[in-house]
Amino acid sequence: MSRPDIGKVDDLATLPNLDEKILLEELKCRYDQDKIYTYVGDILVAVNPFRDIGIYSKEFSEKYKYQKRTSNAPHIFAVSDAAYQAMQTGSSVGGKRNQCIVISGESGAGKTESTKLIIKQLIDICHGKSQLEQQILQVNPLLEAFGNAQTVMNDNSSRFGKYIQLKFMDGAVMGAKISEYLLEKSRVIGQNPEEENFHIFYYMFAGLSTEDFQKYKLKSAETYKYLTNGPGRVQSKSTETKKLFAELNNAMDLVGFMDDEKEDMFTILAAVLAFGQIEFDVNDNDAAFVKNPQAVQVVCDLLGMNKDELIGILTYAKSSAHGEVFQRNYTAEQARDSRDAMTKALYGRLFSWIVNKVNQLLAPEDDLDTSKGTEIGILDIFGFEHLHTNSFEQACINLANEQLQFFFNRHIFLLEQEEYKNEGVDWKSIPFVNNQPLLDLFLAKPIGIFALLDEESHFPKATDHSFVEKMGQNFAKNHHYIKAKVASSNNFSIDHYAGRVEYDANNFLEKNRDSLPNGTMQVFQGAENQLLGIIFKATISRTGTLALQRRSSKKSAMKSRKRRRTPKIMKAAASKKKLTVCAQFKNSLSVLMERLDLSNPHFIRCVKPNTAKTSRQFDGRFVTAQLRYTGMLETTRIRKLGYAVRPLFEDFVKRYRILALSPKLVTDNRGVVKILTDMKLTDWQIGKTKVFLKYYHQEKLEAKMIEMGKSAIQMQKIVRGFLVRVKFRRMLEVARREAREAKEFLEKMKQMALVNHQTQLKLVEHDKDIPADYFDEKNEPAIQIDEAPPPPPPPAVQFAPEATPLEDVQEEAHESGGETDQEDILEDEFVRTKDIGKFGAKGSRAASVRWFQQTQTDQVRQTSDGQFAPWFHGIITRRESERLLQNRAIGCFLIRVSESRFGYSLSMKTPSKIKHFMIDQLRNGKYVVVGELPVFRTLNEMVIYYHKNPVSPFGDFLTEPCGQETDDFDYAELMIESDEYQGIDSIAESQSSQDGYLSPSKVSGVESSGMRRTQNRLTSKPRTEESRENAVSRASYVSLIGDQEPSSVAPSKNAPPSVAVKREKEAVDKKDKRTSIAGSIRSFFSKK
Ligand SMILES: Nc1ncnc2c1ncn2[C@@H]1O[C@H](COP(=O)(O)OP(=O)(O)OP(=O)(O)O)[C@@H](O)[C@H]1O
Ligand SMILES: [Mg+2]
Repeated sequence: MSRPDIGKVDDLATLPNLDEKILLEELKCRYDQDKIYTYVGDILVAVNPFRDIGIYSKEFSEKYKYQKRTSNAPHIFAVSDAAYQAMQTGSSVGGKRNQCIVISGESGAGKTESTKLIIKQLIDICHGKSQLEQQILQVNPLLEAFGNAQTVMNDNSSRFGKYIQLKFMDGAVMGAKISEYLLEKSRVIGQNPEEENFHIFYYMFAGLSTEDFQKYKLKSAETYKYLTNGPGRVQSKSTETKKLFAELNNAMDLVGFMDDEKEDMFTILAAVLAFGQIEFDVNDNDAAFVKNPQAVQVVCDLLGMNKDELIGILTYAKSSAHGEVFQRNYTAEQARDSRDAMTKALYGRLFSWIVNKVNQLLAPEDDLDTSKGTEIGILDIFGFEHLHTNSFEQACINLANEQLQFFFNRHIFLLEQEEYKNEGVDWKSIPFVNNQPLLDLFLAKPIGIFALLDEESHFPKATDHSFVEKMGQNFAKNHHYIKAKVASSNNFSIDHYAGRVEYDANNFLEKNRDSLPNGTMQVFQGAENQLLGIIFKATISRTGTLALQRRSSKKSAMKSRKRRRTPKIMKAAASKKKLTVCAQFKNSLSVLMERLDLSNPHFIRCVKPNTAKTSRQFDGRFVTAQLRYTGMLETTRIRKLGYAVRPLFEDFVKRYRILALSPKLVTDNRGVVKILTDMKLTDWQIGKTKVFLKYYHQEKLEAKMIEMGKSAIQMQKIVRGFLVRVKFRRMLEVARREAREAKEFLEKMKQMALVNHQTQLKLVEHDKDIPADYFDEKNEPAIQIDEAPPPPPPPAVQFAPEATPLEDVQEEAHESGGETDQEDILEDEFVRTKDIGKFGAKGSRAASVRWFQQTQTDQVRQTSDGQFAPWFHGIITRRESERLLQNRAIGCFLIRVSESRFGYSLSMKTPSKIKHFMIDQLRNGKYVVVGELPVFRTLNEMVIYYHKNPVSPFGDFLTEPCGQETDDFDYAELMIESDEYQGIDSIAESQSSQDGYLSPSKVSGVESSGMRRTQNRLTSKPRTEESRENAVSRASYVSLIGDQEPSSVAPSKNAPPSVAVKREKEAVDKKDKRTSIAGSIRSFFSKK
């Protein structure tokens, strides 16, 4: 078979021949044409373009929704689509519903960018327009500020690993969870040449105001020792960094961080830098002391600590024996180490708290049963590292990569081969690099690298060298372990699946112990900074993260425990003993692997085209090395030869029996064979319980299913059309018969009337012959007939044009339409505010009123005069707002209180129509137009902002406020004190239930009392002059009890006496109440 043109094939596994050279040629050729994505079987290879190639627009996003993989060019969006579809359908044939997307590649290859694109597309696919999705999209930039830094490999390098789980219910996002792995804390105290500290520090210097600088006692960036490289960036990229700071601040607001939490957080960050300024010297006894106590003072002032206590834990350790307390002074180096250890703990715990906080804020709502949900996890974890000097962190990172490679191998090779054997399938074994021995070298107990490291870490006299010696003794025969040539060296090498890496064991023990200086916990826990107290009081979980969940009540913990499946490792008995870093890391890897094992994996291999981080440069040798160690070639081989899809006979037949057009097909191998032969597929194999298919078989079967689905719809359409036509014909016949009969009847009536008329005329003629006195005698009035009476009018039967059932349907559609689906969704469907119990159940008018009164009143006042803003309206319906805006200028707007949730709606006139946007109040009390990023402290700020900026994505600006139509303010009910409101509410409820009305609080949907009130106002007679407060009280009153004017509540004449009396009394009560409402409104205005 000849090879197709280079660069033209989307899936390289379909090439007749694929070796290293061809793979590279194809990738290069495609890369040169900006085709950065390529499939190799079911793996997506992504080569980093290092520039915007314009392939992530809305148009592309649309193209990759609910598609067959082969119908479009390879793309990262196709992976989102495939994962989403597989989650929804259960991987086609009885597979796992949960999905995971494993993204690998070395630093700077594009993993984090890919993660963001995948999440964005997933949210687009499920039409995520609510606040939650916006919050999820903001999580990545937020975490990047605290967990990413510029390195030589990547300007935005993730210095932690993460697994993001997007949780879905019925296909819609209901929450998210982030797991973090191994933050590189050491970066906070020092960076390699040409590298920087975490982004957040530079953002602060660029973005904080002068007052903030004073508040956080900050000096210029170059002062700080912990910012050895990078202060230059603060100057050189100040505008850009300032913008990033503003975006971060906004993202924190949007996700729901409180202002005081943010302030505590910035204080801690400033304290981190201030710690680095503390210097030490030694006295004649070689005991450390603080050279610049004023630097300690800064830390203490910031965090609210006792200076002497802090100096104490920085310079000596206390211990007690036999009832006596001993003080062991530190050397200067030990004091510096203790300072750095505190700083690392501060930053590490702060980062963990941020992740924890994000998880709390984005958790699925507690009334959702998460056990019924599904999820898509995305793993963006550090790639394999082989640096100039490789330390403890690199050992952990590379172990994680070994583990992932093992997962990959197991999915692609091992499990597959095992299954072939068990099922007796004819199979030629394919050799591949199994890295299980390497995992054993690290993880085996009691003698693996980590076990030995732990053993030495617990042994006070052990040193890094004794650890290396122990390894040398134990792994002498292990060919993956290579001893250093010089016996005194602390170096050792490991042959990883991706190549040999030499490690420097210096500080391994210290880093693994990660212990805090004596007394740190007590001093930090006692600090005045609240957040500091929280993060140091929290326990560290077995996987090394902060455990703050203790806050949740026992009841809810029980509830969630029942619902959520806890990974086995978590169930292990909690140990009070602090775990070492490698033990925590090992645990977090086990949890991760357990999660991945429960999901259906999708693999993305990111490739870095060059080391210069530049576009349009494809370094063949560099790329080949990456392809080699990611096992791409072996993967290709096995994908071509192996059987990627292996469903049970029964599952297969159940799903595809329709393809054999045989509904009663047996669910064993015979059924399977019939389907496959009918489909003319070849190259499959039948095992004992399963059928073995190539990955492309399933695609073909699914394509056929879609075709069949379409045919079924076509057939249904025809049959339904036929049935409706038959029915229609019958109805038409009936209608015609009835028309005929009616016509005949009328004809008959006409005849009868004529006969009658004739008879009458005859009688009149006859009466003329009777003498006049005959009538006088009878004293009866004479019948005066001037002319012949007209024939009786035809019966009032109107024949409408013959109606068809189809027209009826159209009519209905028209009634409910007029507004696009999208608008409906914007307005009503994507509401995710949690019920706030103290206001009552969300969705009732009374609860919305209470919410407004207790939390919002100040929001709608103008700062200038304290009056309600002219754009503000009460709980009016969407239709009413449209009526108000109908004849107004473009950009005219109003903000109204929502009845269905605790929030607002913005309605505005645009050239095409009146548009409505939801406004949510975030948990921190701030406001956001749902779907938009900017967050505002007040509604006023929001209005001012959207005067100058369009309410995207429609490009509409707010111009003038709509104002109230009359003195009959539609927000009057919101101004009544809530206790008065409650009283009125109950009267209204009792009244309306008597009248057969739903009380306002019971009314749901658009036809609420607000609407009745408005209609009433519009149709009532023009009012004579009324005082302002009367108008208000009347409006509020009417709004509360529906469209009953005061007079209409008077007792009805026909009502039984008891009811009439009762009503009379209530009417009087209400009148009194009105007077008191008027009084409250008067006092409300006078107060303001
Ligand atoms: N699809 C893409 N289109 C354009 N540029 C990209 C794309 N993917 C990555 N880049 C560029 O490459 C840089 C590095 O990518 P990214 O941060 O995703 O790498 P990474 O694999 O996560 O690295 P690390 O392991 O260091 O975190 C990005 O900052 C961006 O400039
Ligand atoms: Mg990254």
